Amino acid sequence: MNQKIKNSVKVIALMIVTLSYGQSKAHLDKSKSLDERVSILLEQMTLEEKVGQMNQYNGSWDFTGPLPESGSEEVKYKHLKNGWVGSMLNLRGAKAVRATQQIAVEESRLGIPLIFGFDVVHGYKTLSPIPLAEAASWDLEAIEKSAKIAADEASAAGLNWTFAPNVDISHDARWGRVMEGAGEDPYLGSKIATARVNGFQGKNLDANNTIVACAKHFAAYGFTEAGKEYNRVDMGMSKLYNIVLPPFKASLDAGARTFMNSFSTLNGIPATGDRFLQRDILKGDWGFKGFVVSDWGSIGELVTHGFAADDADASAKAVKAGSDMDMESHFYVKELVKLVKNGTVDEALVDDAVSRILSVKFELGLFDDPYKYCDEVREKQVTGSASNNEAVLDVAEKSIVLLKNENNVLPLKKSGLKIALIGALAADKNSPLGSWRIAADDNTAVSVLEGMQNYKGNTLVYEKGTEVSTGKQSFIHEVEVNTDDFSGFDASKNVAKSADVVVIVLGEIGFQSGEARSRTEIDLPGNQQQLLEEIYKVNNNVVLVLNNGRPLALPWASEHIPAIVEAWQLGTQSGNAVARVLYGDYNPSGKLPMSFPRNVGQCPIYYNHFNTGRPINKDGNVFWSHYIDSENTPLYPFGYGLSYTSFEYSNLKLSQEQYKLGETVKVSVEITNTGDYDGKEVVQLYINDPVASIVRPIKELKGFELVPLKKGETKTVEFSLTNKELGFFNNNGEYLVEKGTFNIMVGGRSDKGLKSQFELK
Ligand code: BGC
Repeated sequence: MNQKIKNSVKVIALMIVTLSYGQSKAHLDKSKSLDERVSILLEQMTLEEKVGQMNQYNGSWDFTGPLPESGSEEVKYKHLKNGWVGSMLNLRGAKAVRATQQIAVEESRLGIPLIFGFDVVHGYKTLSPIPLAEAASWDLEAIEKSAKIAADEASAAGLNWTFAPNVDISHDARWGRVMEGAGEDPYLGSKIATARVNGFQGKNLDANNTIVACAKHFAAYGFTEAGKEYNRVDMGMSKLYNIVLPPFKASLDAGARTFMNSFSTLNGIPATGDRFLQRDILKGDWGFKGFVVSDWGSIGELVTHGFAADDADASAKAVKAGSDMDMESHFYVKELVKLVKNGTVDEALVDDAVSRILSVKFELGLFDDPYKYCDEVREKQVTGSASNNEAVLDVAEKSIVLLKNENNVLPLKKSGLKIALIGALAADKNSPLGSWRIAADDNTAVSVLEGMQNYKGNTLVYEKGTEVSTGKQSFIHEVEVNTDDFSGFDASKNVAKSADVVVIVLGEIGFQSGEARSRTEIDLPGNQQQLLEEIYKVNNNVVLVLNNGRPLALPWASEHIPAIVEAWQLGTQSGNAVARVLYGDYNPSGKLPMSFPRNVGQCPIYYNHFNTGRPINKDGNVFWSHYIDSENTPLYPFGYGLSYTSFEYSNLKLSQEQYKLGETVKVSVEITNTGDYDGKEVVQLYINDPVASIVRPIKELKGFELVPLKKGETKTVEFSLTNKELGFFNNNGEYLVEKGTFNIMVGGRSDKGLKSQFELK
């Protein structure tokens, strides 16, 4: 049969099916309201088809090639044709997505389009810095733009839903997934969540270059015990409400249409089966109208956790708790119809879940044009475009944090220097892509070596020194760390000896952070610390460039090495960004979004901690809150980061000394660029409520502004504090603003600044 005849046969078959079921197309009528369209369609659906919408499969075969004839792939294919699949994940490319969408739209009875999800975490092909790094920019515009570029490229590749932003707050650098979030602070985290949701979803979800966002992992996954992946979480209500939930609420307020639950348990209840989180808070108190997708196989894991007896029990518990879509457990599709028929699950719960999923599909405009994201011409134009590369370079340089710069080692002179560049990561084109770069091609980042080679005025000699890892590097395999091969040490020492300055790039490879990458040591992996010390012995004029997906504890480096640049994993344009900062073409302006501990024993560590009853060493005895073998303070605090210039703060003012409850408190401060370079400073406002009905943190970030200042320039920055910033949630989840004294602090880091106070009457 030729293609034309095949198509006509398909259309006739569809007409017969349509007529025999009396299917109406009224849901396609755009003059009807969203709710009407959803209920018209829902009424026509069989129970099996409804449950199908709640089923998400991983796309594991090539949809443009031969169709699967056996195994689980054949089952998935049949389910697609039966209308028993609502969504696919991990399929990508306009052509492959179109081919799959065609099965759902043209071969299933009702032709309901699929929604295609993918982890577009920090870009699709053109990668921005990992999210933790981007958070260090404190530049909300740049972060929104980076998400917009990700959406632009992903949507051209057939995708319309990203499993991002990850808005998990975490205090523990041992947890590998801190690289995916915005760090330790709920205020900064909320602002960044908003920026990222806006970037992905744009103003118009119906456009063909915006995608649905998914706030994850709901909730508290970032507090996994001992930083160990997939572990339990136990926490009280005030921490849940004040620290964990705000970025989720901010995502919802910004319009995020989907949420993903989490692998972890919260106070003994797996998040996927947690009614309190999903029904009471998210869909109840917050009025969320979108849908919740489970994490990968997390409905199945309800059994492993010991929360459900079997597949049926897990499905019943998950759906009752508010998990609307099953990602890859295959439980809903197998169990839910039976559970409704035997009365265990009320069909109304299924209807509710399906309505939520269909609403999002309508909002995307998929019923009007199911192929709107499958535009191969646009895909070619957009992917990896010059302007996308420019934009990710811009956010990459903004994400770099200058941790130390003694004797003005940096910026480097542009001519006349002999530079030794050392470290396997200096030439690594893969690691800067991080561990969530599924769509990006391997080895497509600009390395530091390549970035520095663009500056031709100096002599640059490269030596690897040592490998960080041996063996295969991939998303699914354990990383093998090199501990015993020292063979490159001598050559790198020789090069270092005769250089004017050594630039050494050390840290983690891309797959040493991310999912399932918890560490008990957060130092330089393998023998890199030894390499650093050996190099320092022969030449102490060293610039250490760090590549890492989490805070590292590097006390020796911090004491000895004169210049330290935190360069994270900066994505596609990594090496160019690093070189521009080293040479002063970009004056670093990043500030840490997470405290860097002195040692792993300090974890969890965070700036907004409680005072405790014994915060200081009063009488010279041991009975105060401290360690006997370490300082309490971090090595580098939250909000910290240097510049090539210097800034001075003055004239901290409040508009009044006393305010009535509900009045807006106005704070202003002057900031002057007192150094020799133009630069940017993140001006940070912290508050402290010293007496409250529940104990409040010693300080909390409640405002910030990124201020560009020319050499010698002074600007006034103003902040407003309203009930939204001054209150807190108590242990019952109630929001309170209490009268009394408030302390404020304004400065360029969380541990120092100008101070004042006001009264709330
Ligand atoms: C992760 C999610 C991710 C999902 C789909 C899971 O393992 O926890 O964050 O979105 O896989 O790739």
